[in-house]
Amino acid sequence: MKKIFLILFLLPSISLANNADSATIALHPKQLKWEFDGVFGRFDRASAQRGYQIYKEVCSSCHSLKLVAYRNLEELGFSKEEVKQIASEALINDGPNDDGEMFERPGLPSDHFASPYANEQAARSVNSGAYPPDLSLIVKARHDGANYVYSLLTGFADAPEDFPLAEGKSYNPYFEGRQISMPPPITDDGQVDYKDDTFATKEQMAIDVVNFLQWAAEPETEHRKKMGVRSMIFLGILFVILLAAKKAVWKKIV
Ligand code: HEC
Repeated sequence: MKKIFLILFLLPSISLANNADSATIALHPKQLKWEFDGVFGRFDRASAQRGYQIYKEVCSSCHSLKLVAYRNLEELGFSKEEVKQIASEALINDGPNDDGEMFERPGLPSDHFASPYANEQAARSVNSGAYPPDLSLIVKARHDGANYVYSLLTGFADAPEDFPLAEGKSYNPYFEGRQISMPPPITDDGQVDYKDDTFATKEQMAIDVVNFLQWAAEPETEHRKKMGVRSMIFLGILFVILLAAKKAVWKKIV
């Protein structure tokens, strides 16, 4: 009996050991402390604003951000004027006009972020067949999303000599299969010029863009957390009142 149990117990690990090629299994993401985590979590707005700059100057040439409208940027601390200016720099595909034709016009605050490609096929054709996913919900769509995106961005490295790296792919141990069709987007310290005095190290740029993408995916985080804390306070007070009421009512009987 014991032997049967032992075999049953060992079987899965034997088959795992056979299937899993440890050279291609993705690494567990690096664990960072984020300001939006925890019960009192808040967005680091200065960082998220810098993250927007990274998205705009680096990621937006390949990745869309369809669920975010320019006016949403006001929640990050951009003024109405700044948002108008940012939107007007984008070209939005609109139409059809009275002649039945599509046309391009400058963006308005109510427009959603313009996409870099007309459609998925166009995106694949210039990225060796791979599709750069929309980044609006990427932090939610991946397990341990914030840490994962940070690790992915900072994890590019030279492939080990015996690694079968396909052409046009880059080695990245945090991506499933350890090779990704995205060329390293963040390569040098000082790659962007931040408007505040922060120096753009590679780690800083990755942290900033993750803060921005976390806000894009879950802009309601702060409100949700505030409501949670308020509800707990309310329930606490209610508990004390009900306890006092119960004591007052039962005093005459017991
Ligand atoms: C030159 C084009 C290009 C740029 C610039 C670029 N990416 Fe990508 N990205 C891709 C492609 C292509 C993929 C799909 C990779 C694949 O499926 O192998 C991808 C995939 C991703 C993924 C998804 C990985 C997954 O788990 O599926 C994330 C997250 C990502 N990129 C973030 C970013 C961020 C953040 C930036 C800016 C700092 C950026 N990318 C800049 C082309 C790009």
